[in-house]
Amino acid sequence: MNIILLGPPGAGKGTQAARLQATRGMIQLSTGDMLREARASGSPIGLKVKAVMDSGELVSDAIVTALIGERLDAAGDKGAIFDGFPRTQAQAEALDLLLAERRRGLDYVIELMVDEDELVRRIVGRFTCANCGAPYHDELKRPRVEGVCDVCGTSEFKRRPDDNEQTVRTRMAEYRAKTAPILPYYEQRGLVRKVDGMAAVEEVARQIDAILDGGK
Ligand code: AP5
Repeated sequence: MNIILLGPPGAGKGTQAARLQATRGMIQLSTGDMLREARASGSPIGLKVKAVMDSGELVSDAIVTALIGERLDAAGDKGAIFDGFPRTQAQAEALDLLLAERRRGLDYVIELMVDEDELVRRIVGRFTCANCGAPYHDELKRPRVEGVCDVCGTSEFKRRPDDNEQTVRTRMAEYRAKTAPILPYYEQRGLVRKVDGMAAVEEVARQIDAILDGGK
């Protein structure tokens, strides 16, 4: 099964994709994570995308499509969860080609429905353990012992450079202008399923599981 998780920044795409990878053995393909890896490595692509990501605008279709193409084969029969991809009509069409070349199809496009102001609060407050990546939030989820990761005990934490209010607003505007308009492309094929992204993480997970298991 191959699915797309679609929703604005902070909607919970990464949270739910990581859970589906852990519980179902599907493979999470996050273009945001791939781009962050590229910039951390200092590769030519990484240097090119750094300024674009820090501004909150979208990286070029050619770069992200090439990154997804490289990783798609790793998903094999386990199925892929596309997290943060596609984000433009050109990327949606490129994904169809990549899947067709591998004789695979798309099963669902799961749209996480959310409230933008709440998303700004979610994103601006989030941080992760610098060692194991465990997620935290200034208001919603602090470590049990202040300054110490619950999972690995490290005391180093990090924040994404694009998680400030101004950049988040640009990321939201990019979503409204370029990503939301691709929904009809999938709606006309009957692939879109809507989930309440404002519900608690466990409830969002339950709604997604019901779709994947029940074919709703
Ligand atoms: P990317 O990394 O994809 O960021 P994003 O889409 O802005 O999404 P986020 O990772 O911020 O949010 P998310 O929906 O995954 O939410 P999360 O689960 O983390 O992209 C970053 C940049 O890379 C882009 O701006 C662009 O420049 C570039 N890029 C990436 N892909 C591209 C592409 N295809 N084309 C062009 N450019 C591309 O949750 C957020 C927070 O909320 C967390 O703290 C979490 O714990 C919490 N949370 C999650 N669910 C809930 C819930 N139900 N209730 C309460 N809290 C919750």
